[in-house]
Amino acid sequence: PETITVQELANRMSERAVDVVRLLMKQGVMKKINELIDADTAQLIAEELGHTVRRVAESDVEEGLFDAPDAEGAQTSRPPVVTIMGHVDHGKTSLLDAIRHTKVVKGEAGGITQHIGAYQVTSPLGGLITFIDTPGHAAFTAMRQRGAKSTDIVVLVVAADDGVMPQTAEAVNHARAAGVPIIVAINKIDKEDANPQRVRTDLLQYEIQVESLGGETLEVEVSAKTGDGLDKLLEVIQLQAEILDLKANADRTAEGTVIEAKLDRGRGPVATVLVQRGTLKQSDIVVAGSEWGRVRMLVDDKGGTVPEALPSTPVEILGFNGAPEAGDRFAVVENEARAREIADYRQRQKREQAAARATVRVSGLEEMMS
Ligand code: GTP
Ligand code: MG
Repeated sequence: PETITVQELANRMSERAVDVVRLLMKQGVMKKINELIDADTAQLIAEELGHTVRRVAESDVEEGLFDAPDAEGAQTSRPPVVTIMGHVDHGKTSLLDAIRHTKVVKGEAGGITQHIGAYQVTSPLGGLITFIDTPGHAAFTAMRQRGAKSTDIVVLVVAADDGVMPQTAEAVNHARAAGVPIIVAINKIDKEDANPQRVRTDLLQYEIQVESLGGETLEVEVSAKTGDGLDKLLEVIQLQAEILDLKANADRTAEGTVIEAKLDRGRGPVATVLVQRGTLKQSDIVVAGSEWGRVRMLVDDKGGTVPEALPSTPVEILGFNGAPEAGDRFAVVENEARAREIADYRQRQKREQAAARATVRVSGLEEMMS
């Protein structure tokens, strides 16, 4: 239902909230400043105070923003988006480092991943693969959940010397909930106490039956340390992706998901996004959650500036007016006025929801004290 707090209504009319409360009282409506009133009452009050009212429905603002149908035949192949998941320290970031010949793990505080990283690599078979690294630490469940949602394949990393652990099981559940196929990477097989067979049998408890035990789930033994099995892993991923036959329309305005966002001291708000449909270009006007901006610069996973980003590409957007939130969807819109309208509307909604929650808390407190 359409509602607004007394305070917000007063703000939008540049009137004092007490005057609005008084007018409401005259109409027989007893409301406190933080309480919600319905749209009809709000309109009555506004007109009483000599304002003209233009009601904007959610559908006016959000309509057509996401999931506008693609034209027939416009779909072309896109790289798979592969999320790496698994228990803390089982070697997710090391595997990606070994694949990309980088040293991300070394730069992490305490060797613990605390954010999501996104990278693209070329497999030995020639196809591009987009990887999303996630943290294994127990505290980051929400991040893993988001990771599993915007992905095509989950690579479940299990250390052969440690076996299936709590966040291994959690990752299996996220992948299942998202309906995403799992590829098992049994890591650290270089270690003396590695027991890959135990990993396979442990996984049976979670209803994952790997191929070598007669099941359907693809598995690869790897070592991030020696590099063993990495090419095989990439090949298996590409084969799985070919079965999925992933497609997107590159020839339309871009849409996707914010993977992470931060306020950078030098560069201002920076949002790492995954483009899921369309082509994101410099100078595009983007909205994500309650933030918007004009794309000033696109930076790829190697730190270079790029003019555009195709579907399944992770890219940093510079140019947002504020940092959106991880998990927000983003979309390109036709002009700044539209971007501002959507962002303003969502900001208002956020404020109103917060105010409504505060009211519930306050009245709960009053009840307790009486
Ligand atoms: P979180 O992101 O915190 O969940 O950890 P992670 O899964 O990314 O693990 P990370 O890559 O940080 O590796 C943890 C430790 O395991 C590091 O000390 C790595 O050097 C070590 N390690 C990772 N892979 C291998 C491997 O294949 N063999 C051996 N011997 N050590 C490995
Ligand atoms: Mg890591």
